[in-house]
Amino acid sequence: MSTVVALDLGSSALAAAEMKVGRDRVSLTKAAFAPLPPGLMSDGEVREAADLAGELKRFWKENKFSGKKVRLGVANQRVLVRTIELPVLDDPQELRAAVQFEAGEHIPIPPDESIVDFQPVMRYMGDDGERERVVVVAAYRDMIETLVAVVKGAGLQPVGIDLEAFAILRALLPAPSVLDEGADDTPAQAVVHVGAETTNVIVAVDRKCHFTRLVGFGGGQLTTAVAERTGLSTEEAEAVKRECGLLGRPMEGWDPDTVAEVRHALALGARPLVREIARCLDYYRSQPFSRPIDRLVLTGGTSLCSGLDRYLQQGTGMRVELGDPLSQIDDAGAIEPEVATRCAVAVGLALDGGR
Ligand SMILES: Nc1ncnc2c1ncn2[C@@H]1O[C@H](COP(=O)(O)OP(=O)(O)OP(=O)(O)O)[C@@H](O)[C@H]1O
Ligand SMILES: [Mg+2]
Repeated sequence: MSTVVALDLGSSALAAAEMKVGRDRVSLTKAAFAPLPPGLMSDGEVREAADLAGELKRFWKENKFSGKKVRLGVANQRVLVRTIELPVLDDPQELRAAVQFEAGEHIPIPPDESIVDFQPVMRYMGDDGERERVVVVAAYRDMIETLVAVVKGAGLQPVGIDLEAFAILRALLPAPSVLDEGADDTPAQAVVHVGAETTNVIVAVDRKCHFTRLVGFGGGQLTTAVAERTGLSTEEAEAVKRECGLLGRPMEGWDPDTVAEVRHALALGARPLVREIARCLDYYRSQPFSRPIDRLVLTGGTSLCSGLDRYLQQGTGMRVELGDPLSQIDDAGAIEPEVATRCAVAVGLALDGGR
């Protein structure tokens, strides 16, 4: 049995998950999140390294996570994800060399400034033999170094960095069964993770990422929409947003006109989200290897906004379901649903290699 701890540095909060991984059982032993002051992280990137390291140190001490080794995730505009097609190469070294070469063609980051990783996603028969689709991830080296320095500055030791989109898929979707994996008629699933400043739109087949794009939209924009419409302060608007949501019954004592105004602001504020999701999914559908998308799984802190799933279902015309980030864990103890939702990325990062 080994213990794995993963950390998600978001623009609104720090979140972490600790897991015990056995041969055939994965238990979530701890999950916690804590709000971050604005401006330390934004758009998925470190902005105030020293203050962020201080917050992280405090968060770790307060929550008493095991050990100092942590897995990290990244999602920002300085990580690029592209899909390339290659002849099938069974030798891992040859595959890596071919990916590095092709990456140079597709990714506009000079090789000495980038860190490249990849994940084979699908084999298919091309005109001249069997080919493989590979998702290539290239990150600016300095962005990764800054993140690593913050985590080390908090006294922790980073032991792995993964793309947030891959972690989200591991937490939210079941692994394909041996019998079904690779079948031509398996539909795609869309997973939409809406955070505070960013939204990750992902399309997966057999839980493998075939498309991902980071959109500059998050719950912060919904809060701003409420504040602008009602004249409330940002803090008040945030609280009212959480209380009212788009649907459901707000607490006793709420004036119905205020509730109607807040909901109107949220519906108008969420329109760009619908538009961006539709644009991303249309792009995926225009790809020659796209599959029909079966459903859209909604996750991320903003998925806690009641009724957002219904709103997206109306706006996109797709079946929308709320994701369960604990669905792949055998034993999660008594973790509150809100904590689980805010820790979804950390859970997926910790699940890496778990099975
Ligand atoms: N009950 C709720 N109703 C509506 N929105 C909520 C609720 N709870 C949290 N949120 C929103 O979720 C967002 C935070 O989500 P999350 O923790 O996934 O973001 P993050 O990881 O900090 O940000 P990012 O990934 O964009 O850097 C905030 O905008 C917050 O207002
Ligand atoms: Mg996040």
